[in-house]
Amino acid sequence: MVPSTSSSPAVRGPVLVVGGAGYIGSHTVRHLEEHGVPVVVLDNLSTGHRAAVRSPLEVVDLADRERLAEVFARVRPAGVVHFAAKCYVGESVTDPSKYYRENVLCTWNLLEAMRASGTRDIVFSSTCATYGNPVRLPLTEDHPQVPISPYGKTKLHIEHMLQDYSRAYGLRVAAPRYFNAAGAAQDGTLGEHHEPETHLIPLVLQVALGQHKEITIFGTDYPTADGTCIRDYIHVEDLADAHRRALAVLQSGTTELFVNLGTGTGFSVRQVIETARRVTGHAIPTRIAERRAGDPPELVSGGRARWTSSDGNRVERASRTSCAMRGASCAPIRAASTAPDARRALRVPFRCAHGSRPSRTCTFDVLARRTRGNSAREAEGIGVRGARRG
Ligand code: UFG
Repeated sequence: MVPSTSSSPAVRGPVLVVGGAGYIGSHTVRHLEEHGVPVVVLDNLSTGHRAAVRSPLEVVDLADRERLAEVFARVRPAGVVHFAAKCYVGESVTDPSKYYRENVLCTWNLLEAMRASGTRDIVFSSTCATYGNPVRLPLTEDHPQVPISPYGKTKLHIEHMLQDYSRAYGLRVAAPRYFNAAGAAQDGTLGEHHEPETHLIPLVLQVALGQHKEITIFGTDYPTADGTCIRDYIHVEDLADAHRRALAVLQSGTTELFVNLGTGTGFSVRQVIETARRVTGHAIPTRIAERRAGDPPELVSGGRARWTSSDGNRVERASRTSCAMRGASCAPIRAASTAPDARRALRVPFRCAHGSRPSRTCTFDVLARRTRGNSAREAEGIGVRGARRG
């Protein structure tokens, strides 16, 4: 058990956030700083955005071992959170070399820099893609890990490296396995920005904004209720929170923590599109296409260590848009929930298609209930699955 009873466990800094200029990384940096943790970001800006970083930034490539060593010597991080990776499943199939180099080799460089400098604690972004095709649902942490894409394989290789380094060299390692990260910062100043964009929710919203004429549904013949794939969408700020807690768990003595990060509730592609229709008032035309290679029918998190409350993140409860622009709103707005503690926004910044000023930023909110006051229980929940040495 983790001996923490605090709802907001303290983290010692400075924390080196590798890949902190990217989507989940930048939200985590913001979250750590909001909790008073000093942060230094290390990013090569190959896919990250300088504008997303307000903390000290070291523009360094993980392939550059000399500069990496110099940063560790100067910063002397108390812990590392590692997001930097290539993460397109399809690309990993056609160009696996890039994935083994950027994910496996570069992480090896990072672990060696940690060893050399005496930094013990690392939280690494893993993924439910390490499970491969589910043989049972929901996916619990003891599900066989048989990844079907080079992307998933590289992440699993790294999990194995972490475990070996922990046992041989005393590193303390956490590898949260994400389900589908979604949403943006509550204040709309950070969000998802991939080039190219391939993810469902941003693409659906881009249709609502008139940037594409339709959304393609990849496969309607899956063995699910409506024939489309089901995913477990977890809010990016919940992921950020989880990283801070995972680091606190390591700093309190846990040596290995391999844990799912999802909500335990799945939504189909059609449900996501239907929600966007309700919320934006846009028809969002669809086009049916063949299945996309490598897409399992359903990925939903299970297990005792589920981080967020299982009653949350229901896409059906999406009930309002809010518009940051003066005097205009994204009509129609329906059935807004007013319960403040039930508001957890799955917010994706997008540009308003309805108002008189189409260039202003709007947000797309999906409500999700988040149980308050259960943080200590959650921390203990993941601690149960962690190993303690000594
Ligand atoms: N989809 C469509 N049309 C699109 C885009 C996506 O129908 O235009 C479908 C996909 O086929 C899939 C679902 O929407 O069934 C979600 O697709 P995303 O591309 O949004 O997300 P993925 O589930 O493919 O992948 C994401 C991350 C991976 C991670 C994985 C774990 O990008 O890094 O979640 O589930 F491994």
